[in-house]
Amino acid sequence: MTITILGTGYVGLTSAAVFAAAGFTTYVIDTNPSRLASVKKGKSFFYEEGLDLLIADGLQNGRLLPTDSYAVAVPKSDIIFSCVGTPDSPNGSADLRDVFAAAQQAAQYAKRNATYVQKSTVPVGTGKQIETLFRQAKKQLHYVSNPEFLREGTALGDTLWFDRIVVGGSRQGTLEGVLHVYKTVQAERDSIAQIAGIPAPKDPPAGELITTALNSAELIKVTSNAFLALKISFANSIAKLADKAHADITEVMNAVGADPRIGRAFLNAGRGYGGGCFPKDVSGLIASSIAHGVDLEIMQAAAKVNNSMPGYIAEKLQAALDGTFEHKKVAILGLSFKTGTSDTRRSPGVNLANIVAERGAVVTAYDPEAIKEAQPLLNPAIQLAPSLEDAIKNAHAVLVVTTWPIFATYPANKYASLLARDALFVDCMNHFDPHTITATGLRYIGVGKSTS
Ligand code: UDX
Repeated sequence: MTITILGTGYVGLTSAAVFAAAGFTTYVIDTNPSRLASVKKGKSFFYEEGLDLLIADGLQNGRLLPTDSYAVAVPKSDIIFSCVGTPDSPNGSADLRDVFAAAQQAAQYAKRNATYVQKSTVPVGTGKQIETLFRQAKKQLHYVSNPEFLREGTALGDTLWFDRIVVGGSRQGTLEGVLHVYKTVQAERDSIAQIAGIPAPKDPPAGELITTALNSAELIKVTSNAFLALKISFANSIAKLADKAHADITEVMNAVGADPRIGRAFLNAGRGYGGGCFPKDVSGLIASSIAHGVDLEIMQAAAKVNNSMPGYIAEKLQAALDGTFEHKKVAILGLSFKTGTSDTRRSPGVNLANIVAERGAVVTAYDPEAIKEAQPLLNPAIQLAPSLEDAIKNAHAVLVVTTWPIFATYPANKYASLLARDALFVDCMNHFDPHTITATGLRYIGVGKSTS
């Protein structure tokens, strides 16, 4: 079976490398020359653990074939996976120009009865429109929605040990054909993980294969992300109450999450969610519901809470700095939107650095992987440090915004010895033990941890 992947982003390149490693001849198309050149050299344009090793292996054994040509790849392919970007438009709805352009191009070259699989996150109803596009192009193509659930930072592990694969469409045989690809990945995953140098999970998920109607599959993806975003914003709302009521949000959520009906995951309060998915998927779902005349105020509230979190943390810090950032040196650790990735889209770290700089602080920032991507998004007055130590030296406050291992395992006494006397340690993801931090003489600020 021959596969074509449209797009070399987080989803496209990860899928292409994995499918090639599972034994499929896999073309991967990108029309961006620098991204394509990078893949041809065996490197992704973003940091993702193990991915470059898998790309290099695919190039070497000839199964991974990067190209910019639909005419070369698509006619030979039995399945075409669309993994192009869907940025949000100014009004919050998903910008589907690349989605339709890719479908149009693929339709021009696809062979009869090929399967066209949508992995890009699109609003419910998009698949039906693309089916119409195929009919108008007089192409016999079978459309499947196959939403993607991988997380950046653990993209390969999530793809190899998936908790579920959802395929939605109207023809059972076509859905089975797509599931065959994932069953092959499942059968080969140990050897693929070995090539990528990533460990197998201790407790692998069951890997459910779910077939649904087309529109249901489209709605599953955005609903999953919206619910996770809702959990985070809920935790952050309760964290604000905990701050006022002298409770500890971690203690609260540990016990609340022990109820299996609720679950502990995604109840970590902190600086809020960022990245290329949650903010966009929430605004996309809101736009979609408005278009259908449905009230989804609950998600508007989730987005509002999330947007408030960096400012909330800055306020707490400002109050602890005697009301002003003027003449204060503040270090920001973590510029990607979370640990394990170089992605800085909608990054709370970038946001916090800019807020604090605008309020007059002298800001230094450091990230082990995301400096290059963060630089154009940062206030030019912010200094980028070459190391954690350089960033925090003599600072009056440090904000640990992501839990990269080098920040999380850096000894508290070393933080204290480099920071200014009585400096503030702002634990933006409630990761550290407040008592260990305060034992070194530092002052501790968490989110919803006023007992400490
Ligand atoms: C998300 C979904 O998890 C994934 O299934 C989907 O395919 C794409 O969107 P991703 O954006 O890579 O993945 O990251 P994720 O790990 O979900 O985290 C999103 C954001 O929420 C990060 O900024 C993270 O730090 C934040 N977060 C997560 C919290 O603030 N609290 C939590 O409890 C969990």
